Amino acid sequence: MTYPTTRLRRLRATPALRAMRRETTLAASNLVAPLFVCHGSKVRKPVASMPGHFQLSVDELVREGEAIAKDGIGGVILFGIPAAKDAEGREAYDEKGIVPTALRALKKAVPDLILWADVCLCEYTSHGHCGVLNGEKVDNDKTLPLLARASTAYAAAGADLIAPSDMMDGRVAAIRKALDLGGFPDTPIVSYAAKYASAFYGPFREAAESTPQFGDRRGYQMDPANAAEALREVALDLEEGADMVMVKPALPYLDVIRRVKEQFQVPVAAYNVSGEFAMIKAAAQNGWIDGERAALETLVSIRRAGADVILTYFAREIAPLLAKGATA
Ligand code: PBG
Repeated sequence: MTYPTTRLRRLRATPALRAMRRETTLAASNLVAPLFVCHGSKVRKPVASMPGHFQLSVDELVREGEAIAKDGIGGVILFGIPAAKDAEGREAYDEKGIVPTALRALKKAVPDLILWADVCLCEYTSHGHCGVLNGEKVDNDKTLPLLARASTAYAAAGADLIAPSDMMDGRVAAIRKALDLGGFPDTPIVSYAAKYASAFYGPFREAAESTPQFGDRRGYQMDPANAAEALREVALDLEEGADMVMVKPALPYLDVIRRVKEQFQVPVAAYNVSGEFAMIKAAAQNGWIDGERAALETLVSIRRAGADVILTYFAREIAPLLAKGATA
């Protein structure tokens, strides 16, 4: 049947009709808010390239966590800024380090908030790479035990999900084994399975102070041109025991999200990264776009592509809008 029998506009006529036939939903419970935690107290240091985001000391982080829980947001993911950096990224796997300290405080103050712990060495190493070095190369196999140690330290401190973002081969298996032996067989792993070497991480590296001091991450993160390789990454991480897989960044890789969801039918997370956030914020601050609408449209597009969960810096400002029924 074609026009005039068929008129797709009939079901677009009113807000109620549009709501009734809307295909994709977006809820605060689908969102995870990234937070940056640092040493000290009463620290709330703005991140210039990410308006509304801060490096927070643990006391401030707890207040933020309480507000996030009240908003019904699905969870938080923590990134730590250590007191000192060294070649092995020691504070990443120190039980008294910044992330375990933050996890214990959050778990106590907001027990129902889901706590994700990002696992990587780049915030903790003096050279800013995601693992330990052998010359100028990141040594994959020497890095694995350190990631495993960090994972058990975070699980012991109260992390509900362990999310390795380092892109070492074999890290999911190493972490799964360490968690099982350490008494955490029920702690899920969300692997950053398809993580691309992206220009869109720039603002994050300011926030987390994790810019590589030489070279780049192309020797371990994925080539933006590749999608079939992403499916191999996902297949391997699932075989190694990942409970959920992530695609990162989100917007330039919506096709990858869709293919992962269709091929594997597993829970999929997508990371709407710092540069994707900063672009919308910058344009909105200039009055060039409606920032709230652009954020809603972005997030629903990531859900439509197939993501179950979205890690996004928009979580705090979008959750109250969603509660009021806002849509793109
Ligand atoms: C660390 C890590 C990065 C991000 C999350 N975990 C940065 C990187 O790989 O350099 C980026 C997140 C963002 O840009 O929002 N391995």
